[in-house]
Amino acid sequence: MKLAIVTGASKGLGASIAEQLLDAGLGVFTLSRTKNKRLEEKSRQSTKIYKHFTCNLASVNDIEQTMLQMIVSGHNLNISTIYLFNNAAVIKPIANAGSINHSDLIHHTQVNFNAPVMITNMLLKQAKVPCQIINISSSAGERPLQGWSIYNSMKAAINMFTKTVALEQKSAGTDHKIISFNPGIMDTPMQETIRSSTREAFHDLERFKSYKEKGLLQSPDKVASALLNLCLHEEMISGHIYDISDL
Ligand SMILES: NC(=O)c1ccc[n+]([C@@H]2O[C@H](COP(=O)([O-])OP(=O)(O)OC[C@H]3O[C@@H](n4cnc5c(N)ncnc54)[C@H](OP(=O)(O)O)[C@@H]3O)[C@@H](O)[C@H]2O)c1
Repeated sequence: MKLAIVTGASKGLGASIAEQLLDAGLGVFTLSRTKNKRLEEKSRQSTKIYKHFTCNLASVNDIEQTMLQMIVSGHNLNISTIYLFNNAAVIKPIANAGSINHSDLIHHTQVNFNAPVMITNMLLKQAKVPCQIINISSSAGERPLQGWSIYNSMKAAINMFTKTVALEQKSAGTDHKIISFNPGIMDTPMQETIRSSTREAFHDLERFKSYKEKGLLQSPDKVASALLNLCLHEEMISGHIYDISDL
């Protein structure tokens, strides 16, 4: 069977990805601080393999323990391929340099960069089957926005991590693939957090508010569907930074 690990599946894009993976017949392990009741209900009503692991990605110990628990849980599943969706992320701190809170900075870099790197690292170390790693990135990884210097920087970092690991795996002759994916702007709780910031902290606040007012935010279900079509039915180009507009 094919197994997918999805971080941040309690809401937003991760919830849509996990639900559609279950519908497509994959086993799904999710990882976040809170549970997704809809996914739990759905898996209870079927024979599908679904397990949630409560994990705070801000904690290195939580990440390491959770990955070990996942290995134990996956032991008897006869897995042929593992998909890893490094989706969980935070947007805060939204602040100009000079006003960045250092605790928020450390939390952000841990959740948005260190955590996906650690999970990828542990997976590649342990995996005995081909892995397809999908890092959810953002156009913010390529284009600066005033007030988002930390989010911009960590998305740029995850894109460079993706490209570098792809080269390493190619040189090593493995079957593992890794991509980044920019989902575009979506109607999720992260956008609510963005709209609740201030013009002083975030230069483009009015533009982001207008995306919601004008109905320009994409549904996460639609974005997940396009992404899963690429991952499950097409050949992913390892090291590529995909954009929703290309799919
Ligand atoms: N929304 C957009 O317009 C947009 C645009 C471009 C890129 N993206 C990217 O798309 C991805 C999904 O974004 P989204 O909008 O769906 O975000 P979201 O609605 O804010 O959901 C974020 C998910 O990350 C999890 N998470 C956050 N902190 C965590 C922690 N410390 N430990 C474990 N899990 C944690 C949350 O779970 P818990 O709170 O339960 O822990 C939640 O499931 C992110 O990588 C984001 O950067 C989003």
